[in-house]
Amino acid sequence: MSRIFSGVQPTGDLHLGNYLGAIRNFVGLQADFECIYCVVDMHAITVWQDPKQLAPHTREVAAAFIASGIDPENSIIFNQSQVTAHAELAWVFNCVARMGWLNRMTQFKEKAGKQRENASVGLYVYPNLMAADILAYKATHVPVGEDQKQHLELTRDIAIKFNNDFETDCFPVVEPLIFGEATRVMSLRDGTKKMSKSDPSEYSRINLTDGADDIASKIRKAKTDPGELPGPEALAADGLHVEGEAEKARPEAFNLLSIYAALSGQSMAVTLEQFAGAQFSAFKGELADLSVAKLGPIGEEMQRLMASPDHVDAVLRDGAERAAVIAAPVIKEVHEIVGFLGS
Ligand code: AMP
Ligand code: TRP
Repeated sequence: MSRIFSGVQPTGDLHLGNYLGAIRNFVGLQADFECIYCVVDMHAITVWQDPKQLAPHTREVAAAFIASGIDPENSIIFNQSQVTAHAELAWVFNCVARMGWLNRMTQFKEKAGKQRENASVGLYVYPNLMAADILAYKATHVPVGEDQKQHLELTRDIAIKFNNDFETDCFPVVEPLIFGEATRVMSLRDGTKKMSKSDPSEYSRINLTDGADDIASKIRKAKTDPGELPGPEALAADGLHVEGEAEKARPEAFNLLSIYAALSGQSMAVTLEQFAGAQFSAFKGELADLSVAKLGPIGEEMQRLMASPDHVDAVLRDGAERAAVIAAPVIKEVHEIVGFLGS
């Protein structure tokens, strides 16, 4: 049986990358699979979070899930800290994963930077908690943006080592689901940098709660290059993806085009066909209109939901109860396998 799990951190300012790389894909999977979507507040505190902001930021992610079309009756939406199984299984995985594996994690290196000695231990073992999130439900498929690929490989390594060490087939080896035309949305100010909430420039990203004017002005000011828009000749031999060297030469152009493709629900090939030879000014006008049309209603619905925190909190509480019921027997099984004494 397939089960979907994914998580988003409540660190404030959800952006277009989170939407196109992850949340939008969560929505489509509901039709065919049992889905569990988690606001990972325990991951968020691996770097400092203002305690006064953590609850509103948690509600913001839940609101984005619901406003984007995740149905809380059908799928499970909850926040991580309400289900103790995550922390319990993470401890066991801290004892399964090897230092060498974690030392290779590029996200830790990026986030800790030169401050490695001063980074929290939580930031270092972050991928073990992520493995616990997924495997506490024996989830089989995990939709994420491209930047999470390495963490999911670690989840696979943990599942395999646990199964080998304890001679069991307890955990599935999960499959990443990285799909859509915008699995890695880049900054609007610099096409070689990922769109990220930690970028100091507000103009680098479109936030899901931005109003129409902000969305349009961020697109108008987005960095471009002096050329006209590229056409289908930029496609690789597969006819689906942009050829690597072409993309490297004009990162801003291809980033904006992939955002257009993803938001319009059409392929990159069709999008390249449509705008081949166009001026950026005309293209940006169309991209701004499309973005406002697609993101505007989501932002408005998020604002409406965030104005009724009791409703959102009730959704998260109900989701947590349902999640805990699924995780409890897995934790019991793990205790037995490891040899912990107790009922
Ligand atoms: P985070 O906000 O780090 O918890 O990320 C939540 C989800 O959004 C993960 O699946 C990420 O892979 C995805 N994501 C974050 N930034 C981007 C981006 N710039 N492009 C595509 N996906 C992204
Ligand atoms: N690490 C993910 C991110 O930053 C968030 C996350 C935590 C997650 N636990 C997860 C994603 C489990 C998928 C599955 O984007």
